[in-house]
Amino acid sequence: MRECDPRIVLGLHRSRYERRILTSALDLGVDAIDTSFNYHGFSAHTALATAGSDLLPRFKISTKVGFFPTAGQAEHSLDPDRLREAVERSIRDLGRAPDLVFLHNPERSLTGSSAAAQDRLGMACAAVERAAAEGLCGGWGISSWDPRPLPRLVDGTLPRPDAVMVRAGLLAGIDVLEASEALAARWDLNPSQLWGMSPFGGSATQPLWGKLDPRVFIQSPHDGLSAVQATFRVAYWLPRVGRISVGTDSPTHLGELVDALRYEANLDNLSTYRRLLCEQRDRQPL
Ligand SMILES: NC(=O)c1ccc[n+]([C@@H]2O[C@H](COP(=O)([O-])OP(=O)(O)OC[C@H]3O[C@@H](n4cnc5c(N)ncnc54)[C@H](OP(=O)(O)O)[C@@H]3O)[C@@H](O)[C@H]2O)c1
Repeated sequence: MRECDPRIVLGLHRSRYERRILTSALDLGVDAIDTSFNYHGFSAHTALATAGSDLLPRFKISTKVGFFPTAGQAEHSLDPDRLREAVERSIRDLGRAPDLVFLHNPERSLTGSSAAAQDRLGMACAAVERAAAEGLCGGWGISSWDPRPLPRLVDGTLPRPDAVMVRAGLLAGIDVLEASEALAARWDLNPSQLWGMSPFGGSATQPLWGKLDPRVFIQSPHDGLSAVQATFRVAYWLPRVGRISVGTDSPTHLGELVDALRYEANLDNLSTYRRLLCEQRDRQPL
């Protein structure tokens, strides 16, 4: 059994919720899992407890609230009462309190004027902050797929989260990268409080990976490192995050991701890549 490394979080968005990946994760030193109230058709927490209720005390568990079932679909809401109920339900279904509860994609319900959006976000943050203060979860955060509307809403009046999770990696896009960094700066978060997610954009077999060799962003020597591993390792720098939630049902794949942590990113080449992304954006017609 390897020593625990907090840099990898096993993300369960696409998971089959099998016991095998949970035991393998612990063997590989991955002792954090990220799930959500709405994953697995709103049954992720019970599926997790069914797969390994005896294993759950050994994991740090983060989950998310913000999507709710309605007429066979999912609707988004930042209603403080619904968020609170979802946290309470999560504890019942998991059989324990989660270590962290993220507000899930709050941008989905932040339409309208800035003042109204800020008010709605502030009340939602206060609801999960209160849940944490009352011991319903260890801490709280924000997980945002598209953080671009968020930085301008954050001022001294909003509660400060314990963690923020954003898209990370070569596919995140320069506007998302910059918004994520701006959001982290607004809340003065250190890299360990900024989490990355979805380093492969949901699939490690996208055609792009056949055209771009991400090993160019890894310091030499990198013999034996695969393109998939390099893609994962580089994601810790786009933006600078302390841990990444990555999905896999395969113990072999998870082992490859753990091994990739031994390599270091080539920051000069990454900075050139970022400059090219900015130049490309600036050339786009308004
Ligand atoms: N808005 C949000 O809050 C939000 C949105 C999306 C994601 N997330 C978080 O990010 C986590 C990960 O997202 P994701 O699953 O959508 O995307 P991802 O981690 O970018 O991609 C997962 C895919 O990568 C493959 N993979 C992983 N390691 C591999 C390896 N070594 N070799 C080959 N293939 C590999 C997996 O296939 P195999 O199973 O075959 O290994 C899986 O299909 C989620 O579980 C969640 O925690 C949050």
